Amino acid sequence: MEDFVASKNIKIPQTLDDLIAGLYEAFSSDRVNVDYVHTLMSLYKSNPTEWKKFAKFDPHRYTRNLADGGNGKFNLIVLCWGEGQGSSIHSHADAHCFMKVLDGQLKESLYDWPEEEGQHMHKKAENIYKKNGVAYINDSLGLHRIENPSHSDTAVSLHLYCPAFDMCQCFDERTGHKHNSRVTFYSKYGERTPFCKFTDAVNDVMGGYTYDGHVPENN
Ligand SMILES: [Fe+2]
Repeated sequence: MEDFVASKNIKIPQTLDDLIAGLYEAFSSDRVNVDYVHTLMSLYKSNPTEWKKFAKFDPHRYTRNLADGGNGKFNLIVLCWGEGQGSSIHSHADAHCFMKVLDGQLKESLYDWPEEEGQHMHKKAENIYKKNGVAYINDSLGLHRIENPSHSDTAVSLHLYCPAFDMCQCFDERTGHKHNSRVTFYSKYGERTPFCKFTDAVNDVMGGYTYDGHVPENN
């Protein structure tokens, strides 16, 4: 990584604000350099005092908290994972997805796209990401599920999506059955999103493990 940093003349972000400024610069053109963004996010050393205003936990489900709306090409979201909480298996709407661990550890389970419905989905890899580690995925690499494997510690991650999206697909591991889901925010810019009867009702029904911050469409 040091050679790459030197060859690209990457300025090491000392703070979260530095990182965000660097990301705005990286996304000022229409081309996305995945290695560059990955490196930039890796170089930021997590400092809770800089991101805790976005980190809002819910006892029943993991939360998605909008930290920065970006420049129209990306957004930044802080995800808060209570002990043992996890997402469903999901796709990424043709977007690039970078995930940096800000606190705790996260487990990523990678799956192939299901070839036909009715068959158990094939898990092809498991990766553990520790604090400051960065993961990357897009739809051509497969699908994934993210979980906080700890039953005693919470976890927090910073996600960059390029472009931002509000719909994705969630999959049933046992059958490969998929449904479209709308992505929701628990808070925006540090403020709790106003109570929504519809989404909160659906979230209550989906509850805990299967909840992915996504609301089933047409339900
Ligand atoms: Fe994801």
